[in-house]
Amino acid sequence: MKVLMVCLGNICRSPLAEGILKSKVNSDQVYVDSAGTGGYHIGNAPDPRSIKVAKEHGLDISSQVCRKFGVSDFNAFDVIYAMDKSNYNNIISLARNKEDADKVKLLLNEISSFDEEVPDPYYDAVEGFENVFQMIDQACNVIAARLEK
Ligand code: 4NP
Repeated sequence: MKVLMVCLGNICRSPLAEGILKSKVNSDQVYVDSAGTGGYHIGNAPDPRSIKVAKEHGLDISSQVCRKFGVSDFNAFDVIYAMDKSNYNNIISLARNKEDADKVKLLLNEISSFDEEVPDPYYDAVEGFENVFQMIDQACNVIAARLEK
């Protein structure tokens, strides 16, 4: 099973989602990666505020490297989780067929049926990153429990 976490910049939310899901699954069975729909930060480490919040929860995401989502990711991954509706729409706009499009899900639909979004914390204080961590963590608990079955 290969799971891709996607946000806009791939420096705040999806690196947290990658690190959190990795911490909950067996890496022999589940491959987790992340990417951004925008290309502003390619090659960069995650935002220092995401690194800090992850560290407070015992996770080291500091060695992740930002990359941009590409069409080949539809071939490489089984499930593609978007952090918000804008990311979702950006990914769907690149889908070549129904099979590609069916792989794309809104992350928080794992814990809510109201199309909720992980808010973009980029312009927030560090408190916003803890809030984002908690939302992603809850969704990843559900994903990990299902993958264990
Ligand atoms: P992310 O947050 O999508 O959670 O990584 C953002 C990071 C950077 C920018 C926007 C959102 N930016 O505009 O540079």
